[in-house]
Amino acid sequence: MSRLRVAILISGRGSNMSALVSAMKPSSAPAEIAVVISNRPDAAGLVRARNADVATAIVDHKPYGGDRAAFEEALTGELTARGVEFICLAGFMRLFTPAFVQRWHGRMLNIHPSLLPLFKGLDPQGQALAAGVKITGATVHFVTPDMDAGPIVAQAAVPVAAGDTPERLAERILTAEHRLYPLALRLVAEGRVRIVGDRCEIADGPAAETILVSPAP
Ligand code: GRF
Repeated sequence: MSRLRVAILISGRGSNMSALVSAMKPSSAPAEIAVVISNRPDAAGLVRARNADVATAIVDHKPYGGDRAAFEEALTGELTARGVEFICLAGFMRLFTPAFVQRWHGRMLNIHPSLLPLFKGLDPQGQALAAGVKITGATVHFVTPDMDAGPIVAQAAVPVAAGDTPERLAERILTAEHRLYPLALRLVAEGRVRIVGDRCEIADGPAAETILVSPAP
């Protein structure tokens, strides 16, 4: 069976990228990471990728100023050259034009550190603390033109602890993200995810059995 050729797009640390790379390393995995691309030449994740023997590329957005379409053209050049079929955004801090999103419709995932549709946009951990929720989490979803809004593939629930700071909560969510993103990519690469309107249907996807009560009873 041929493996899905995936590009991971990053802008920073790249811990989710590392989790995806590790999970897809075995030749039996349904996807292979063809390239890690950063829009920032100084992204720490590039070093991590190179250390993991993954091909890397830099498509710096700065020379293009505000011309998003021109930046995307350069990005498309890299994706085409590497035979990329699917994109995983992992801490990629640029917004795409609707045309680019349309071209990758059903072929581009993102991870967001909240239980969407709650707490879209910046600082979702701070938003969760401000709202006083006792459970938050992470979501992997397909990318659509609206930010943090596409069909949801999978979610992980994380308890909020008394006295949490946004940083502590972010760390706890990140641990969950590193389990969630490989699971979601695996489901998609195995052809078990079908987009139906605004939702995803997952074939043979039993519900998790654990009920999380927070604070602990
Ligand atoms: C993660 O929290 C991810 O959900 C968000 O940006 C962060 C990226 O972290 N989109 P890393 O670069 O994967 O370590």
